[in-house]
Amino acid sequence: MPRPLVALAKWGKIYNPSYLYNTKDMSKEPIILSLETSLDDTCAAVTRGTSVLSNVVSSQTSYHASWGGTVPDIAKRLHHEWLPRVVDRALSQAGSPKLDALAVTIGPGLAPSLEQGIAYCKLLATKYQLPIIAVNHLEGHLLSSFATNKNGKGSSLARHSFSDGVALGFLISGGHTELVLMENIGGYELLGETLDDAAGEAYDKVARLLMLGYPGGPILAEMAKVGTPKYHLPEPMTMRKDLNFSFSGLKTAARQYLECEKPELTQEFVQDFSASFQKTVFKHLMTRFRRALDLYSPTMILLGGGVVSNVELRNLARATAKEYGLPVHFPYSKKLISDNAAMIGVVASFKYLRGEFSNPASLDRLPNLNFLKSSQLQ
Ligand code: KG4
Ligand code: ZN
Repeated sequence: MPRPLVALAKWGKIYNPSYLYNTKDMSKEPIILSLETSLDDTCAAVTRGTSVLSNVVSSQTSYHASWGGTVPDIAKRLHHEWLPRVVDRALSQAGSPKLDALAVTIGPGLAPSLEQGIAYCKLLATKYQLPIIAVNHLEGHLLSSFATNKNGKGSSLARHSFSDGVALGFLISGGHTELVLMENIGGYELLGETLDDAAGEAYDKVARLLMLGYPGGPILAEMAKVGTPKYHLPEPMTMRKDLNFSFSGLKTAARQYLECEKPELTQEFVQDFSASFQKTVFKHLMTRFRRALDLYSPTMILLGGGVVSNVELRNLARATAKEYGLPVHFPYSKKLISDNAAMIGVVASFKYLRGEFSNPASLDRLPNLNFLKSSQLQ
């Protein structure tokens, strides 16, 4: 079986966007309209190379909140209704530039949601006679640190001097928790992943137990900031010396404590319990992170996914990497960290240069798309 995405060259050259695009000649950078509808955010963005010209996110959260989770039928209907308006807004905010290509998320995600983005992208491709680039949502999160604003200002990655060697991608979102070895852009190997719930999912589920609403992850994180981690919740999988994660046992331990002890959910208790939960999540994440650094000696770390909005987690990752003398990069704005279409445009810009276009006739959603493990690679 061939590698999932084409590995091109060494980091030093291929990983450096200015080398790729020869930034003095802006006309070489492809202008791409990207759509992202993998779950319950209807997103469209226009990018020029890795610069973000517009990035529109229309959140459906309030429509799903009363159900306590994303309802596929509602998500599908709202994506269908909202896509034309969101796309128009993204185009006009970008100054209605002449487009070179379209890009769309094909997975992973909720099938009815993905289908809406793909169908609308095909419609636009026919209307404007443009090629389509299919993008893996996970690669979007991993490469989101490459995004810059119109003036070229971006994350610390923009100031990074690239050298050969591998990078380590750490993807921590509501649907995924993964450590990914990045040989170069497009050459990825899945080192470890969650065996059950993702980290963000665990935040949301424990937040629900604490009556913090939906999605409660960010609220729990706010509570944790002022709490004292008084309660003991066991670190998952301490006996397993691999790079996989597990969060469902931790969620169960939290539920059992609340069911057995029946504490009054005072503000102080919720703050302290949130701090205890977060401390254990961080411990589990950092144990695996350190192990990956020891095993693979990367030259830099790229963080991505909604949980990376958590400033304490970013600080901890940075402090841990500093012990190894390594830089940690993450997107320059909160909007680029959670689900958005600009990160899809960033991936598409690299695929454009590699000539990786899709045949609209066979373009379809891949709800379970993932990177391949080394045992699956050739
Ligand atoms: O990447 P994302 O926007 O969507 C997925 O692709 O899953 O991640 C959303 C997840 C949610 O589970 C949310 O609770 C979590 O990210 N999240 C946080 C924080 N902000 C968002 N988790 C912990 N601390 C935060 N500050
Ligand atoms: Zn995501």
